[in-house]
Amino acid sequence: MAIIERNGCFKLDTKNTTYAFQITKFGFLMHTHYGAKISDVDLAYVYPLVRNRSFINAPAEDTNMVLNITDVPQEYSGFGVGDFRTTALRIRHSDGSRAADLRYCDYEIIDGAVRPEKLPCATVNGAKNIQTLKIILKDSATDVYVNMYYTVYEDTDVITRFNEVVNKGDAPIYIEKASSLQLDLFNRDYDLVQFEGRWAQERHMKRAPLASGTQGFVSRRGTSSHQHSPFFCLCEKDTNEKAGGVYGFHLVYSGNHRTEVEVAQFDNPRVLMGINDEGFCWKLDGDDKFVTPQAFMTYSADGFGKMSRNLHMFIRNHIFRPKWKGVRRPLLINNWEATYFDFDQQKLVELATTAGKLGIELLVMDDGWFGHREDDKTSLGDWVPYKKRLPAGLKPLAEGINNAGLKFGIWMEPEMVSEDSELYRAHPDWVLSIPGRGRSLGRNQYVLNLVNDEVKEYVVAAIFNVLSSANIEYLKWDMNRYLTEVYSATLSADSQGEVYHRYVLAVYDILDRVITNFPNLLIEHCSGGGGRFDTGMLYYSPQIWTSDDTDAIERLDVQHGTSFGFPITSMGSHVSAVPNHQTGRVASMNLRANVAYSGTFGYELDINKLTDEEREMIKAQTAFYKENYDLINNGDYFRLAKNDTFVSWGFASPDRKDMLIFFVQLEGGPNGSDVFVKLDCAENAFCYKDIDGGDTYFGDTLKNIGLCFPLTQGERKAYCKHFKAI
Ligand code: DGJ
Repeated sequence: MAIIERNGCFKLDTKNTTYAFQITKFGFLMHTHYGAKISDVDLAYVYPLVRNRSFINAPAEDTNMVLNITDVPQEYSGFGVGDFRTTALRIRHSDGSRAADLRYCDYEIIDGAVRPEKLPCATVNGAKNIQTLKIILKDSATDVYVNMYYTVYEDTDVITRFNEVVNKGDAPIYIEKASSLQLDLFNRDYDLVQFEGRWAQERHMKRAPLASGTQGFVSRRGTSSHQHSPFFCLCEKDTNEKAGGVYGFHLVYSGNHRTEVEVAQFDNPRVLMGINDEGFCWKLDGDDKFVTPQAFMTYSADGFGKMSRNLHMFIRNHIFRPKWKGVRRPLLINNWEATYFDFDQQKLVELATTAGKLGIELLVMDDGWFGHREDDKTSLGDWVPYKKRLPAGLKPLAEGINNAGLKFGIWMEPEMVSEDSELYRAHPDWVLSIPGRGRSLGRNQYVLNLVNDEVKEYVVAAIFNVLSSANIEYLKWDMNRYLTEVYSATLSADSQGEVYHRYVLAVYDILDRVITNFPNLLIEHCSGGGGRFDTGMLYYSPQIWTSDDTDAIERLDVQHGTSFGFPITSMGSHVSAVPNHQTGRVASMNLRANVAYSGTFGYELDINKLTDEEREMIKAQTAFYKENYDLINNGDYFRLAKNDTFVSWGFASPDRKDMLIFFVQLEGGPNGSDVFVKLDCAENAFCYKDIDGGDTYFGDTLKNIGLCFPLTQGERKAYCKHFKAI
């Protein structure tokens, strides 16, 4: 049994971890352990109920003052009645008071998983050993309840969490904050590892020790953002790739998010993750409930490597919808960096014809095919083919591409509208805007107010129309600005704090209807590259364009950071032209491919302008990728080395008999020498053969001494070594 309850103590076990809490005096839920697996169930001894002898703040009925609320590690904290740490839940009641005093009511153990309504989430997907614990808490003074759901995925060492706030009273309440996950820990000896960035440089890893007080990160941009990924880790001081304790946390959400770690007075950190409460206020009427997004967490006692592999497997098996679980997706060519807005049907069919001969399987027509879209100032919202480029519409184009042996994919940016568009001229009131204020532009466009059902239905109809007009098997769903003037005239003044979240719910609703009506459609998500790279989006689209920066050297940082929380198979990764369009850097074809292989591989350059020799290289590359698809996309991923001189990473099959090792030398040096990369992915007892005619090594040699790579003068070099156990 994954979940047990004994005398008010709850223990949630996965293969290698235990999560535990118990009912303590006066019905508070005291958190007692999250980490390596343990046997005891009653862990009351781990925390004194009072640590501060003076200045105790006891609950109202605790006349002997035996419990100091602000000292106790809690499962879901209230506020206003003595817990002075940052709170998971903040409610304004109809009388204007702000307080929540959450006490235990009841529990239920349910086989399988429970879904947060209308939100993307992990699903069972045919797996076994999954159980859910539902805990009901109640505010001592009102009819406000909190249902907490913990689903234990025993085999992948992951626990998901979400909460429902239920108003069983008559009067409305106002939820000003409702976190998805709280974790109260016992000491501050952790580093906070976050993944921050900016457009074209997303998810660079940053590690810093926890300091007293509050630290964390947020998005206020309406999307999960290029700046702060809704994923982070807390690790012990000496944790590295292969050793040490580390927690990984994900929020399954694509809008404003907040992560806080408050190190309180006894050096005890409180971790909270959920919707960002800035600009948020949800009016909850009587007999109604608010559902938080889901969060999930894992713990690894064996360093970052194991933590990432837990998360990769979990996302592949439980976040991706079953349709894409373990399924090979097509190797693509995208025309954006090949043509930008300068294309027509003939050019695309020519591209597809060459692509087909090189082993490419899908052509994606990017931005510029609709309205009269000559540049990025016009036509968003008018989802009808641009006569100049596609005189006979999408059907003959799709046929031309299919005849070349490729699938056909299309780009849309459904959430947006250009000022110069039929849609905006007809419905200027359909954009997010505040009456009496100017409308801020982002990339020359406005955001449609999807909170208005009429607008949402227009968008759904437009997408359905496009997708059913031709044989379209792939949709690149883009989103190229953040939200401003976040207001909806369809809601009352006291519900305007709901607009950010309702916007995200509307996007999810549209996506849900698209995948329901077009079940075979493959969606790749994109937001100016990786501006909405989160597990909320991965639920609908198993691949996301990782970054608009296609430079192979820049991608080493972006893909390295992203790999901590997200599976390799989710990262869109293409070979593009040189000099690179974002950095002007020139990298060899070999290096560009060796970096791009670690993702959903594809091309984004005009292959008709390449030399025959380069096209032959592409042929070999597509064959290589297809041959190793399973190892790269479903195998175990290892970050082997990363420093200023070189980067190395690799993949191993679950039985460790097959290994693919990549190495990139970052700088040429004056004194060439050799470096050794220890292959943590090797199995000690196996004997491995370099199948490209290289040497044979024992696994323990590769693991403890390593594989030797030369550092040479001149341009940056990349190597790929393929080993099989013999
Ligand atoms: C931003 C995307 O990230 C690019 O790949 C491309 O699709 C452009 N938008 C098109 O406008």
